[in-house]
Parts: sequence; structure tokens; C-alpha cells
Amino acid sequence: MSTLDARDIPADRISHDRLAHAGLDYRAIDAADSAAFRRTIQAVSRGFLGPEVSETSSEEQREALGHRRFTGVFDAASAQHDVPVATVDSWITPLTVPGGELDTWAISGVTVAGTHRRRGIARAMLEGELRSAVAAGVAMAGLTVSETTIYGRYGFGSAVPMSSWTIDTRRAGWAGYEPSGRIEFVSREQLAADLGEVHERARTQRAGQLPGWRRRWQQAAGLTIEDKDGDHVRGVRVVDADGGVRGAMAYRVFESEGDFAGARLAIRMLFADTADATAALWRFAVQHDLVGEVTAQLRPIDDPVRWLVHDERGAVQTIRDHGWLRILDVSRALTARTYSAAAAATIALTDPLDLTSGAWRVEIGADGRAHVERTTVEPDLRLDVAQLSAAYLGGVPLTGLLAAGRVTGSPEVAAALDLALRPAQPPVLGIWY
Ligand SMILES: CC(C)(COP(=O)(O)OP(=O)(O)OC[C@H]1O[C@@H](n2cnc3c(N)ncnc32)[C@H](O)[C@@H]1OP(=O)(O)O)[C@@H](O)C(=O)NCCC(=O)NCCS
Repeated sequence: MSTLDARDIPADRISHDRLAHAGLDYRAIDAADSAAFRRTIQAVSRGFLGPEVSETSSEEQREALGHRRFTGVFDAASAQHDVPVATVDSWITPLTVPGGELDTWAISGVTVAGTHRRRGIARAMLEGELRSAVAAGVAMAGLTVSETTIYGRYGFGSAVPMSSWTIDTRRAGWAGYEPSGRIEFVSREQLAADLGEVHERARTQRAGQLPGWRRRWQQAAGLTIEDKDGDHVRGVRVVDADGGVRGAMAYRVFESEGDFAGARLAIRMLFADTADATAALWRFAVQHDLVGEVTAQLRPIDDPVRWLVHDERGAVQTIRDHGWLRILDVSRALTARTYSAAAAATIALTDPLDLTSGAWRVEIGADGRAHVERTTVEPDLRLDVAQLSAAYLGGVPLTGLLAAGRVTGSPEVAAALDLALRPAQPPVLGIWY
């Protein structure tokens, strides 16, 4: 875990002054103040189309998220002048990269009230977050997004794709082997604990992941106070021959009207740290009695379920953006990870916030380590920091971005960098944050 605390960084002065000019107050919110926290969480819930937040729920959330850095924008002219008209929260957390971890400024809870939209408030907050991350000495920022069109303008790139699955169980069938792990039902409390435990081990196995938190697992297990249907959630886990928990799955079954044998089993979360446990959980779902369809999200794009079923066309995969990254320090970000092949390139970056702009020489040695320095040499590739951020974990090919005109320059250099950037397994991000 990172030893840095985002709360030590004050609200960004440039954004403060810009919003003050518009009669707005951009300031830190003290999550230790339960009334102030509740007003903030109310604003966040309203921004994400949620209901009013009860005091109990607010306290639950404060316990879970109180360590984050909350920043709000207040309008003294509004009737509810102590309720923020805009919110954002952030914390510093390790991102798994090939060969290690990189401290990352995670951003969440970005909302602007409908009464104050499209006046540049989100822009001021996002730019403020990125400058604050730089002030904290963090080389990367990350987020997951409600809409794909919001964050590219700040230099974020869509770096970690995820896949969703819709499986017609009868057509797909099961062709996989018989996994050795034993499946057992667990209580929802145990399920939350198992999800957290397995995720914490699994997150270091592949690039793209961040640690989760207790409330994330409780939400998956249907245990939070606002989840009125939480008692419909079921949980199973996989136990290996030595008694170790290797996988856990939260799911819910929705009956099908008119066909009792055609229910839909919706997987809410599936984590495993071995291939055997992954297969065991998929098999449990696909072969479940009375279930005609299984759905799942936030799965890796190379999910083995494609090859575990008998008829691939019975398992329909949809690939979409999920994890977004924003490089803040080129040299530190590129040297924090290892590479799969040697390569050398000069890249010229544009950056909307001018944090990384300029030409960089990147030399990746046979030892899989990069050496990065500023240069004045003519570049092989020209791109925005958003595209470099997208390619950073090897989940998005530079050759593809070049073919789409988002990167210009030498296809040969882009292809060589792709070989170096691509890890053994594509990156994954199994949670929203
Ligand atoms: C998304 C949201 C935060 C934008 O807030 P805002 O204060 O209206 O945004 P701004 O006025 O600062 O707009 C900044 C830029 O983003 C663009 N933009 C704003 N909202 C956008 C959207 N939903 N889709 C695409 N672009 C958007 C603006 O056009 C503007 O572009 P420009 O400066 O490059 O010309 C706000 O609409 C909101 O709260 N939405 C609901 C909650 C949500 O989805 N939050 C994001 C969570 S990931």
C-alpha cells in the first residue's frame, strides 16, 4: 500500500481562483465531519441518479471512504449553500503494472449538479485533481467512467478493456475439464470476506488492477443498507485440496416469466487466483439447474470461458472500455514497469495540461527495463499523452491507434513498441472505482 495520503495535498490554487472568479468556493471537505460528509454523499448520489442517502447509509459510507480526499464546489447564492454543487474524491493507491506496482491517484465521485452544468466546473475540478497528483509526486492518475467522451480532453486514455458475457447455457454447454476445486455455498458475510481476500491476491497477478475496499465486497454481496434486494444475492467459493479459498462468486438468479427452466443467472463478481478455480466457478454457473442464461461483466478480454464451453457461439462476448489512465510523469511511469521485448523509440507528446509535453527517448533493454530521457531528436512517433496512457499497460496497441490516425509516425516503431509493451496476459480491472 502507498504511504502517501492524498488528504495532505490542499485544494489546487489555480482551480480555486478560477472558480472564485465565478462566485464559487472550491475547497476540501472534512470527511470526519459527519454532517458535511452526508451533504457531500447526498450530492454524489443525486449526481449519479441515486436516491436520498439515509443517515445510516451515510455513516456506512463514511467508515468505508472517509480516508479519501473529498473536494467540493459550493455556491453561496444557492438555497442549500452548504450542499456542494460539485464533488470529487481521490486517494493514492497501487496500480498493478507488469513487474510491480505504481502509486496512482485514483479519482471517483465526479459530479456537477444539474443546476450548474456546463460552466467549466468539472474541468476546474479535474485539472485541479491532476495538478494535486503531481504535487503529491504521483506519476499516474486513473478512473473508471460513466461516459467515454468526458476524460480524453484531460489526457486520460482508455487503457484496460473489459469483457461482458451473455451465455446461452443450453447452446454453449460445457466442454471444460472437471476442476479439482470444491464449490461450497457461503453466507453473504463470508462471501464479502472471501471476495476481498481472493481479489487482494489476484490483483497482483495481472496489470491494470487496484486494491478494492470492504464496502465494494459488501455491495457485491448485497449487504449494504441501500440494497433493498440484497437478500437475493447468493455466494459460492472454491476451496482447494489444502483447504485454501481460491475463488469466490456473488450472483443473483432472476426467474424467467413463462419458463421456469429459463432463469438468468447474473454474476455480480467472480474472482479467482487459479485457472482451476475460475473454471470451477464458470462451470457452477453454466451448468446451474433451471438457468438458461448466464451474464457477467468486468471480465478479462481473454476470459477462458470462451474455451470452456462446447459451442463458442453460445457465449457472446462484448468488449468495452473500463479502466482509464493518465500519465503524469513519463519517465517514472515508463520505468516503473517491465517490458516483454527490447525496443527503442523517440516519441513526441502533446499534453492538454502541459505536464508531459515534449520529445522523449525511450530505450528498452534486453533486461526488460526502460531508460527514458528528454531529447531534441526528431520523433519516430507523435501522439497525445492520452494515447500513450492508453497503450501503457499493453491493453491497447499503438499500431491500432496509428491505423486510426490517433498516433502518427513509423508503423515499424509502433509495432516494436507494442511487442515490448504487451504483457503475457492482457490487463484487467475487475472493479469499478
Ligand atoms: C460529467 C459532468 C461531471 C460534467 O460536468 P460539467 O461541469 O458540466 O462539465 P464542464 O462544464 O466542466 O465541461 C468540461 C468539458 O467537458 C465536456 N463535457 C461535459 N460533460 C460531458 C459529457 N457528459 N460528455 C461529453 N463531454 C462532456 C464539455 O463540453 C466541456 O468541453 P470543453 O471544455 O472541451 O469544450 C456532469 O455532467 C455530471 O455530473 N454528470 C453526471 C455524473 C457523471 O457522469 N459523472 C462522471 C463520472 S465518471
